[in-house]
Amino acid sequence: MTLPKHIAIIMDGNGRWAQLKRRPRTFGHIKGTRVAKKIITSCSRRGVQNLTLYAFSSENWLRPLNEVSFLMRLLRRYLGRETDNLIKENIKFSVIGDLSQVPSDVCEAIKNAAESTSRCTGLNLVFALGYGSRQEITAAVKKIAEQVAAGQISCDDINENLVSKNLSTYPTPDPDFIIRTSGEQRLSNFLLWQAAYAEFYFTEVLWPNFTESHLEEALKSFSSRQRRYGKVSTDVNLEKLSN
Ligand code: IPE
Ligand code: IPE
Ligand code: MG
Repeated sequence: MTLPKHIAIIMDGNGRWAQLKRRPRTFGHIKGTRVAKKIITSCSRRGVQNLTLYAFSSENWLRPLNEVSFLMRLLRRYLGRETDNLIKENIKFSVIGDLSQVPSDVCEAIKNAAESTSRCTGLNLVFALGYGSRQEITAAVKKIAEQVAAGQISCDDINENLVSKNLSTYPTPDPDFIIRTSGEQRLSNFLLWQAAYAEFYFTEVLWPNFTESHLEEALKSFSSRQRRYGKVSTDVNLEKLSN
């Protein structure tokens, strides 16, 4: 089975799952966090190198204040509880996104988890938090423009590689597999540039119901796909044979 080098997951459907059970949305987020923990461990043990989880988008700030603060508290608690486990599993934790609106105690927990796991060499686990891809691309454009204005580089130095290097995901390779749960088929401002050649997997399963066997099913689907990158099928097969 060919394993993706970088799995990115849009963990969606917590609210609807709770609603179906006639419970508050926050109940869905609690279950969702448990599922995330399981999937992280499963990816780590399967030997996946990179996993990015969309935990909170830049647009999610527009949700009711009580839901936003609950999610922030949940993240802080998760990190407080899980950091030792991450170290044990040799998982390196980091965050991408704009943390300027994130409460300082949560930032502290993030910093602590990132520092404590910085020497781990197994799974590279990235939480996208306060993340928005358009904002990320805009920030990259600004950085590059400043370098040109300062005379450090010329316009001719601007290429895809330079743009990628100025994104928050650098040096993690682009995701080759993007999973979204809950039946929605959109990116919701997630990794727009990086998803250029990703394979997509949409499932109706709500995130709190997502299990390791659903992951297994998704990975089987990935493994069965032919990634052509614009070439024709026969050439791709020949390249595979010669590798
Ligand atoms: C995903 O579940 C979690 C976050 C966005 C933080 P939702 O909260 O979006 O759940 P639905 O889409 O409303 O069911
Ligand atoms: C995307 O889910 C963000 C996360 C999963 C963290 P949303 O539920 O916020 O996306 P939309 O609003 O349905 O597009
Ligand atoms: Mg949603």
